[in-house]
Amino acid sequence: MRAARGKEGASLARPRGAAVLGLLAASALLALALQSFPGAGPCWGANGTRGCPRPARRPPPALLDELSRRQRDLLRLATSAGDTGLGLSRGGRLGCGDLSRVTELGVVGSGFTKLVLRAALPGAGAIALKSVHRAGSDVSRCVQRYGHPAGCHRLASYKLLKEVTLLQRLDHPGVVKLHGQCYDNSLDPEIRVIAMLELGSPLEMIQLLQTPWEERFKICLSLVKLLFYLAHSPLGSIVLLDFQPRQFVMVDGNLKVTDMDDASTEELSCKEDNDCTLDFPGKSFILKCTAAGKCDGLNEKKNLFNAYRYFFTYLLPHTAPSALRPLLGDILNATGDLRYGINETLGAFEKVLHLYKSGLYLQKSARFTSSLEIACLQAEHDYKCWPSYSHLGCLLSIYNAEEAAAICNSQPQCQSFIVTQQRTWTGSYLLWSLKIPFILQE
Ligand SMILES: Nc1ncnc2c1ncn2[C@@H]1O[C@H](COP(=O)(O)OP(=O)(O)OP(=O)(O)O)[C@@H](O)[C@H]1O
Ligand SMILES: *[C@@H]1O[C@H](CO)[C@@H](O)[C@H](O)[C@H]1NC(C)=O
Ligand SMILES: *[C@@H]1O[C@H](CO)[C@@H](O)[C@H](O)[C@H]1NC(C)=O
Ligand SMILES: *[C@@H]1O[C@H](CO)[C@@H](O)[C@H](O)[C@H]1NC(C)=O
Repeated sequence: MRAARGKEGASLARPRGAAVLGLLAASALLALALQSFPGAGPCWGANGTRGCPRPARRPPPALLDELSRRQRDLLRLATSAGDTGLGLSRGGRLGCGDLSRVTELGVVGSGFTKLVLRAALPGAGAIALKSVHRAGSDVSRCVQRYGHPAGCHRLASYKLLKEVTLLQRLDHPGVVKLHGQCYDNSLDPEIRVIAMLELGSPLEMIQLLQTPWEERFKICLSLVKLLFYLAHSPLGSIVLLDFQPRQFVMVDGNLKVTDMDDASTEELSCKEDNDCTLDFPGKSFILKCTAAGKCDGLNEKKNLFNAYRYFFTYLLPHTAPSALRPLLGDILNATGDLRYGINETLGAFEKVLHLYKSGLYLQKSARFTSSLEIACLQAEHDYKCWPSYSHLGCLLSIYNAEEAAAICNSQPQCQSFIVTQQRTWTGSYLLWSLKIPFILQE
């Protein structure tokens, strides 16, 4: 059953303007969000008297405050993309009705706030169902503090609603796909929200460390593409406040963010640069305060540094092709010091990808080239080695590209090599081993 109306008795936060209200009316989600918490209306007197169907206490003021703050946050988010034409069209096609058809339920994950089940849906395959985790620490801590389970459950529901609102508006391969949602307020005063998502598998860092470098690079590259999208999203620059590997899942070898309830589209306001401090354990940065009174690129940089500390440092350098190491080192250094923004970072990643694919990548294949080209390159970028077929530089004989890669890997100075068409008397190829990563452009 879909939530339709707000209750009488004043919503906790009213948006201003008829246009906003019109927009909100179009959305079941927002109707739900606007629904006031029981307590203000005639049915919800103190101690649940006056013949109400299900007596409920009004939440304590501090909890009401939090509820209304969440509500406002949700409304702001839902309306901020209102005039871009990005309505709720990406809400997916599944709804409450489909929930009765699911089979093979099983838990795939849980966090502080949410519980995730896998389910099989005839015709749609396996999907993930996300709901509020009643036994999770978020709800139980709140109950301990406020003694109000229904209010606490609703507080957590707002987080999930926020996530759904964001997922409806974001469209990127690095964002988990929302297949649909179900809002049920027949459980009043609680509301129930179930998000139906693309099913992934949890990110296992330890396991990832054992996968080939190419796979790990792919994950870092998808993360960088995601952060580029988030920095320039239709909702503005989005920061993931709680940025950790467990916020991501893998779907068909691709990294996707699934936990969006702790995202923010607000840039920090400031009066001076000192207000724009980005603090991380063991490191802090002071960014510029713009004339408009906003910290310049703070959201983008926060994401990027987190990507550096949780992903790049672990996944990028380990067993990287030696020819790519200098470039990867630059990326690590520049993101670790926040010298790069996300644009430059994406540029650098794409350069690595290009080099990797262009056949100059060591372990993959060697490139055959003309002797003239070699002469030019070799003059500038060679180094001496022993034994060498030439006194001008390091010219070695190799049997095939694999052997070339092995030789180059074993020589600290070798960053790349070029295989010539010359053969030795045994039929081996001759190879120039060079001390710079890559010099050939396509
Ligand atoms: N689409 C999905 N497919 C498979 N597993 C998922 C999916 N979404 C989430 N999970 C798993 O469920 C866990 C909890 O989901 P989520 O991170 O959204 O909840 P949370 O309560 O906000 O978590 P946290 O405490 O980390 O903030 C995730 O860590 C992940 O392992
Ligand atoms: C509500 O319940 C509390 C204790 O349960 C009681 O002290 C109080 O008088 C009740 N108030 C009303 C209006 O019934
Ligand atoms: C980047 O390189 C500089 C100069 O070598 C060094 O001082 C700095 O600590 C490096 N930063 C990171 C994050 O590795
Ligand atoms: C980064 O790229 C985006 C999209 O191409 C562009 O709009 C933006 O101006 C660029 N930012 C910087 C700082 O170069």
